[in-house]
Amino acid sequence: MYFKNPTVAAGAAALAVIGQATAQDILPDSELPQIGGGYFNASDPALAGYTYNGVPPFAAGAFDGYYKWALNNNTVSINNATYLSLPFGITDLGQKNTIYPFYIVSEGTPKEITLNSAKSDGACDLEGEGKGQGKGQDKGQDKGQDKAKFKKILHIIFENQVYNWTMSSPWWQVAAKRGKLLTNSHGIAHPSYPNYASIVAGDFFGVSAENFYFLNTTSIYDLLDAKNLDYASYVEWYTPVATERGPNDCNNAVFLGPMDGLNFPDSSPIYRRLDVPALLFSTYVEQYSRCERVLKASQHFYNDVFSNKLPAYSFYVPDMLHNAHDPVPDESMFDTAASSGMWLNSFLDMYLEELTAQGTLVVATWDEATWPNGSDSVPNNNNSIATILFGHGITPNTYDDNYLTHYGLLRGAISNFGLGSLGRNDTNATNGDLTQFIN
Ligand SMILES: *[C@@H]1O[C@H](CO)[C@@H](O)[C@H](O)[C@H]1NC(C)=O
Ligand SMILES: *[C@@H]1O[C@H](CO)[C@@H](O)[C@H](O)[C@H]1NC(C)=O
Ligand SMILES: *[C@@H]1O[C@H](CO)[C@@H](O)[C@H](O)[C@H]1NC(C)=O
Ligand SMILES: *[C@@H]1O[C@H](CO)[C@@H](O)[C@H](O)[C@H]1NC(C)=O
Ligand SMILES: *[C@@H]1O[C@H](CO)[C@@H](O)[C@H](O)[C@H]1NC(C)=O
Ligand SMILES: *[C@@H]1O[C@H](CO)[C@@H](O)[C@H](O)[C@H]1NC(C)=O
Ligand SMILES: *[C@@H]1O[C@H](CO)[C@@H](O)[C@H](O)[C@H]1NC(C)=O
Ligand SMILES: *[C@@H]1O[C@H](CO)[C@@H](O)[C@H](O)[C@H]1NC(C)=O
Ligand SMILES: *[C@@H]1O[C@H](CO)[C@@H](O)[C@H](O)[C@H]1NC(C)=O
Repeated sequence: MYFKNPTVAAGAAALAVIGQATAQDILPDSELPQIGGGYFNASDPALAGYTYNGVPPFAAGAFDGYYKWALNNNTVSINNATYLSLPFGITDLGQKNTIYPFYIVSEGTPKEITLNSAKSDGACDLEGEGKGQGKGQDKGQDKGQDKAKFKKILHIIFENQVYNWTMSSPWWQVAAKRGKLLTNSHGIAHPSYPNYASIVAGDFFGVSAENFYFLNTTSIYDLLDAKNLDYASYVEWYTPVATERGPNDCNNAVFLGPMDGLNFPDSSPIYRRLDVPALLFSTYVEQYSRCERVLKASQHFYNDVFSNKLPAYSFYVPDMLHNAHDPVPDESMFDTAASSGMWLNSFLDMYLEELTAQGTLVVATWDEATWPNGSDSVPNNNNSIATILFGHGITPNTYDDNYLTHYGLLRGAISNFGLGSLGRNDTNATNGDLTQFIN
């Protein structure tokens, strides 16, 4: 739920924390993005006893001039966050309820997007395997980026494993036999949040933590809208909220659903906002028509796939038990490579044949590499992650050693659909390019 709390119910505690944040500026309420999610006022008794928590998004001293941020007094609060502490999850019991202020991150000099002026109706140049619709429409304008290779691209992002850890699991080895394993694939940053941003926007905007940040920047969704190509996010445990804008508004709750319940007390909420790339962008949630495209997976994914309504560009967001994040941190108790690999194989059993028939590329990847002990940097593991491509045009049981990053995934989607560019690392070939893996 989203709370509006301009008068600061928690008084001195809130002031102290906001003071530490040394905000560059504070936005008046009139400049707030319309984010939906159930506005709230400070006198609501439910806010009594909450304390503020929040840290600015950037590493100290870094990124001056490139990006700027603002602390907003409006806050999201966690209902009875007894077991939650900054930035996510869990430390000791007895934590007080917490209100998270939110921060807006902007580019110092906003990047201009470039639209592809070539006439194209997007992803319609299937060669043979599709179900017929759209086939052949691009005949005669088969030039460069306009030749879409996939009708659809579906992304599934897993959590926090170095390549070696993932691929030593028999379950992931089985999954790899069903697709093309990319052995030289890399996350962009640590921790998780900046990686999710980089996949859809070509930059992580200096963000070095995981609080309640809104990115006020362009993203691939602007390019898709300009090309009139559809998109969606299918999210486990997500529920939209009804607001004055409509019945399916963005739900900006940082967490949803129950605690995952295993390995207590080192347990996490089963849904996290930060795993849904679209929701990280104020430029996305400002528009109700975009919010309507964030969907509860269990209500929509099956039907959309089997009625051939899966849009051109989509994410399936597995929950914290399916995505290998949890339970943390004692990985010796549970094998998260196995649990996520079992889940992925089931998902592929269910959907891969149909998705392939519809000309879909399925990209399964990881946000970042961490060692099994939770360390992400000792020693430098190069953010080396497993990425596996499945579906249309992919030869099963193959691998490729070419370099790829999250920016290359973005670049691949942009070039597949002939979208133009965001003017960021999506233009940079040294970041890799998904299309190089397609035979
Ligand atoms: C934000 O909160 C601070 C601290 O309570 C207050 O001084 C400031 O006036 C508030 N700003 C707005 C725009 O409400
Ligand atoms: C704010 O909350 C209080 C307490 O629930 C309520 O009495 C009041 O009407 C609310 N104000 C507005 C503007 O909604
Ligand atoms: C918050 O949760 C704790 C633990 O379940 C419970 O003891 C407490 O009563 C709850 N507080 C509120 C206000 O719901
Ligand atoms: C992990 O990688 C190292 C080299 O960095 C290699 O020696 C080791 O065998 C690998 N472990 C597994 C389980 O693949
Ligand atoms: C978002 O960025 C634009 C520039 O692209 C700027 O004009 C606007 O003030 C920013 N909005 C917020 C809420 O910071
Ligand atoms: C975590 O694991 C890595 C890889 O095995 C190891 O190099 C590093 O020292 C470990 N870190 C800690 C804090 O135990
Ligand atoms: C990181 O990459 C560098 C350069 O490719 C390589 O020399 C080094 O061995 C890698 N380190 C690890 C831990 O993989
Ligand atoms: C991304 O782009 C920025 C400039 O916009 C550049 O400084 C950076 O090196 C690029 N590459 C990566 C991996 O971030
Ligand atoms: C392209 O990427 C490389 C490596 O990530 C980086 O060093 C370089 O600055 C980038 N160039 C641009 C123009 O972003």
